Amino acid sequence: MYCIRKITEDLTWVGANDRRLAMFEGVYSVPRGVAYNSYLLNDEKTVLFDTVDKAVRQRLTENIAEALGGRTLDYLVIQHAEPDHTAALSDIILRYPDVKIVCNAKTLAFIRQFYDADIDARVLVVKEGDTLSTGRHTLQFFMAPMVHWPEVMVTYDARSKTLFSADAFGTFGAHNGAIFADEVDFPRNYLDEARRYYANIIGKYGQQVQGLLKKISSLDVQLVCPLHGFVWRRVFTWFLEKYQHWSTYTPEETGVMIAYASVYGNTKNAAEILACRLNDKGIKTVVFDVSVTSASDILSAAFRYSHLVFASTTYNAGIFVTMEALLHDIAAHNLQNRTVAFIQNGSWAPTSAKLMRALIDPLKDMRILEPTVSLASSLKPLQLEQIDALANAISATAPPKPKSASIIQNER
Ligand code: FEO
Repeated sequence: MYCIRKITEDLTWVGANDRRLAMFEGVYSVPRGVAYNSYLLNDEKTVLFDTVDKAVRQRLTENIAEALGGRTLDYLVIQHAEPDHTAALSDIILRYPDVKIVCNAKTLAFIRQFYDADIDARVLVVKEGDTLSTGRHTLQFFMAPMVHWPEVMVTYDARSKTLFSADAFGTFGAHNGAIFADEVDFPRNYLDEARRYYANIIGKYGQQVQGLLKKISSLDVQLVCPLHGFVWRRVFTWFLEKYQHWSTYTPEETGVMIAYASVYGNTKNAAEILACRLNDKGIKTVVFDVSVTSASDILSAAFRYSHLVFASTTYNAGIFVTMEALLHDIAAHNLQNRTVAFIQNGSWAPTSAKLMRALIDPLKDMRILEPTVSLASSLKPLQLEQIDALANAISATAPPKPKSASIIQNER
């Protein structure tokens, strides 16, 4: 059986969905599944752009056979060597023994490392700006190092104005029949997953994403085909603006992401009171218990909002374990340009604020707000002044949105 979608007259989506995978890359939950995109160009020569994960490779080969309609496969372009896009390489070679593998030198080295497939005799190594004519179409290759791995490249087809964008512009979530972003309500139903994908997969590499955006800015792009998520044929500029925000570490909106680690509920209490005080001032908040919500979701929210508050109990003379893991994750993903405040708790020797600050301070353009609220076991009525002082300090740097704007946002 097969399940394919036509993108243009001679370009077909031949990828596959996985809804059984619990953790993408072993660390990111994908409750709505994940799509592995692969595209087949039926020109005078036939070209497959990337393959899929091993879990769904049978569907890929069935799809390719259908889309080829009895023709053979002439080229396989490997834009990214990561196994979720190359696991079916051997299947392709087995079925189409004359296929030529088009990739760059770094990709070739990675393929040799990951697989035993003998591709040296069939490889066509390309570099920045090289072109490959397939008949009516001419493919041009552009390197996009570290978006997400060092070997990544993207491909531009000037005839159809299509950018095959590798991991860039991807989204978590399996397709539900729709493969075009304009076939779904993307802002309402998929933007959060696109942001979580961006922040966790390529969030660390904002500078390199900027490099890619600059490179493609001179191209006339009407169609974008990423390796995960949806194909963009309309409103791509809207999504491009999101990438501009994320890759420059510019908050998407004014608001406060409060993440707390609480053993007996007292640190949580302070976090929730702060959230109420901020909303009294018209400031949007989102609150997470770091022991319950996965780091990938909290990191994604940190990429979204302008202000971050971390509240943690002191534990084994350090930061509570789940908060410490979150902060290391945020630092590892290179988050920048945020206003940050801390709340600590400790029954005999509170140290968590100092230790949390030590993890956040080295990040670029982080502004630390005072006061740091310090609790001794629980929040006492007199300390509400400290919470108010922190709310005021946040408010002074986070002007509330006009009411009409929030209503529009809520209704979207
Ligand atoms: Fe979906 Fe970096 O691979």
